[in-house]
Amino acid sequence: MPSHRIAAIPGDGIGKEVVPAARQALDAVARLDGFSLAWESFEWGCEHYQRTGAMMPPDGLETLAGFEAIFLGAVGFPGVPDHVSLWGLLIPIRREFEQYVNLRPIRLLPGLESPLRPRPGPIDFMVVRENNEGEYSEIGGRLYRGAPRELAVQAAVFTRDGVDKVVRYAFELARTRDRRLTSATKSNGIVHTMPFWDQMVDEIAPAFPEVAVQRQHVDALAAMFVLRPETFDVVVASNLFGDILTDLGAAIVGSIGIAPSANLNPEREHPSMFEPIHGSAPDIAGRGIANPLGQIWAGVMMLEHLGEERAARRLMGAVERVLAAPGARTPDLGGSATTGQLVEQVLAALEPDDCRTN
Ligand code: IPM
Ligand code: MG
Repeated sequence: MPSHRIAAIPGDGIGKEVVPAARQALDAVARLDGFSLAWESFEWGCEHYQRTGAMMPPDGLETLAGFEAIFLGAVGFPGVPDHVSLWGLLIPIRREFEQYVNLRPIRLLPGLESPLRPRPGPIDFMVVRENNEGEYSEIGGRLYRGAPRELAVQAAVFTRDGVDKVVRYAFELARTRDRRLTSATKSNGIVHTMPFWDQMVDEIAPAFPEVAVQRQHVDALAAMFVLRPETFDVVVASNLFGDILTDLGAAIVGSIGIAPSANLNPEREHPSMFEPIHGSAPDIAGRGIANPLGQIWAGVMMLEHLGEERAARRLMGAVERVLAAPGARTPDLGGSATTGQLVEQVLAALEPDDCRTN
């Protein structure tokens, strides 16, 4: 039986609840489709930090390099400063494995209620977020701590190679969809990096004549996510802009508990990583009420990446059926169901012969 080696990192908070829950659904669908997932679980995260002073062991990245994919829950918990936990686990994985595309579908699934009024038309677009550079950089510093002249400087890094790769990926993706690409910029206020970003988009566009590309300042674009979300197809954005736009995107499609993301190394020289957009949610951690669907949908993206298209469609079909039918919901969706009860519904909704496209 074919098998895929997967590294699971539940991480912190509700990650420890939704990763095991999603694994149940993934194993079930793998059985139906005649392959297996060979999981190895790594208990890295803030508790590991409190025990050892590091978020993962020194050879953590080397260990992960041997897997086909990484299935991550969430990183960060009160007690460890966020910049320590994230830069000790999540960000190094994204960078070391050149996962320069963070692909985030924003889709309003039947049965989900958008908070927007009047109710929007169909929302179905993809955000391609640059994931390795941009505003997330270690370059900078702080001086004169505590003094009145205290200052902090942080440089944003945009490289020709880095922007080129992610923008091309977005054009390629638009070509397979509705052939419309929106580039998030802010070249009216940020006068070096953003004009460079715009220039790169302009340089690449002629190679994709069939794709209509428009540029939008990110502030106006955020407003359009709220006012006309049905007009987008593919959005490409820098690291920080993509981060902000995708939380907004997840919110307008009904629950941040459902949105998934794929950290992709498109060349497949390194493992890619799949995680929900939501974080570790310390406020509800340990209560068994986290929505597992974001983690499961991230699992669907992992199956697609592994070439298990049929299993991916089957699992997504089950998620869609659960949401479309009346049934128990976790609190983020207005119900009082537990994580386990939602997984049970997904398992029950898996149809042995479901091969619909999603
Ligand atoms: C995300 C998260 C991370 C990010 C944080 C936790 C560092 O918000 O994946 O969207 O900003 O990339
Ligand atoms: Mg984010």
